[in-house]
Amino acid sequence: MASTQGAQILVASNRGPVSYELGADGTLDARRGGGGLVSGLSAIGQDPDGASAVWVCAALGDGDREAVRRGVGEPGVRMLDIDPDVYADAYNGIANSVLWFVHHMLYQTPLEPVFGPEFRARWASYEAYNRAFAEALAAEAAPGAAVVVQDYHLALVPGMLRGLRVDLRIGHFSHTPWAPVDYFRMLPDDIAGQLLRGMLGADRLGFLTRRWADTFTACCEALVGGTAGTAIGVHGLGADAEFLRERSRRPDVEERLTALREQIGGPDRKVIVRVDRTELSKNIVRGLRAYELLLETRPEWHERVVHVAFAYPSRQDLAVYRDYTAEVSRVAEEINSRFGTATWTPVVLHVKDDFARSLAAYRLADVALVNPIRDGMNLVAKEVPVVSDEGCALVLSREAGAYEELGDDALVVNPYDVSATADALHAALVMGAGERAEHTKRLAAAATALPPAQWFLDQLNALRD
Ligand code: F6P
Repeated sequence: MASTQGAQILVASNRGPVSYELGADGTLDARRGGGGLVSGLSAIGQDPDGASAVWVCAALGDGDREAVRRGVGEPGVRMLDIDPDVYADAYNGIANSVLWFVHHMLYQTPLEPVFGPEFRARWASYEAYNRAFAEALAAEAAPGAAVVVQDYHLALVPGMLRGLRVDLRIGHFSHTPWAPVDYFRMLPDDIAGQLLRGMLGADRLGFLTRRWADTFTACCEALVGGTAGTAIGVHGLGADAEFLRERSRRPDVEERLTALREQIGGPDRKVIVRVDRTELSKNIVRGLRAYELLLETRPEWHERVVHVAFAYPSRQDLAVYRDYTAEVSRVAEEINSRFGTATWTPVVLHVKDDFARSLAAYRLADVALVNPIRDGMNLVAKEVPVVSDEGCALVLSREAGAYEELGDDALVVNPYDVSATADALHAALVMGAGERAEHTKRLAAAATALPPAQWFLDQLNALRD
């Protein structure tokens, strides 16, 4: 039933704008999240009409749960304390092990996936987790409010919420790619149908690129008879130029810049930078192999180039992510022991997440390597040209959403083709300063065409219309 008061704008996402660490002494330390989703959705507070807003998110760990129990929180943020086992099955067991794998086409299909009783049990948790969000949104929303639901974690929420509150304007935005029909239908038929119908409960669906919107539409046409009644829009989330330019000139970034320069050694060395979560779809190991091939086939680069690779741990509850993280370190060490000398470390790998150091690396990059197997957008590709001090050539996978907007000014690669990636790295390294500066200028303009706040407000306005 519609409440008589409540919020006029609501956002729902698994990860919220703030999370809490529980100290050994029982203190709670609030950490504000980063990334495109957070900066985009922060515009929730900038509605020109001053509408009241609420952000509904999940309590992710012990610190968040303790904060909910103690009633600690930020105004406008409602954290849901979902049973930890239900949450783990929904987030790790379905969202990240099944839906993420389907949309990024990550399964090694002779062995995986297996959809049996264990999967069904986890699916029940995914439904319960989605229902908890739908019920919280229904309780928090003012009559006729606009609700923007985020991502594959919450694919069932639009349909469930529609069942509870017919008066709401409901939107859903996908930050991932969408799987092609033949891959999507690996899912059991009833589950595939439930996911699509769940999303089609929204008035409006948003995707990062035309390509992902089209694959979603094709899945609906093949499996549930189309998308009738639901509008579909494309909103290519861009980099936040103002924030990045200011943030990347602060003293902590300057400090990191000095430290990185020391690690690179020698002012004349070229720098190839990559910055990723250690995510299976980011293709870090093939990127390292391409760099290794460059050193093997073009010895003129020995002592003259350094690959600065930041691979920040992600989803470490999942064994496959832990294994991949270990493999990234192993391959980096292998390259260093194969080619390194007393005066040259070919790969400088950092695994501790440090945003200031990422910005420092962006500033000094001669080449940025962004080679995902498949990626909804990839904001690193958009951020580097904005921050770069002297211009940076971009080696970009054609499977990243960012390719649609940046492809004309990048060296585009098939992410599986390690030989072609090595060649593209070479071409990027030898690009003349003038050409590089021209490309960087155009890349930065394309990358910032739709800043996060505008990205969010565009969707909100389209939903309210
Ligand atoms: O790309 C989809 C997404 O939900 C992003 O919004 C976010 O950067 C990423 O996945 C984070 O994943 P997780 O919350 O599992 O760390």
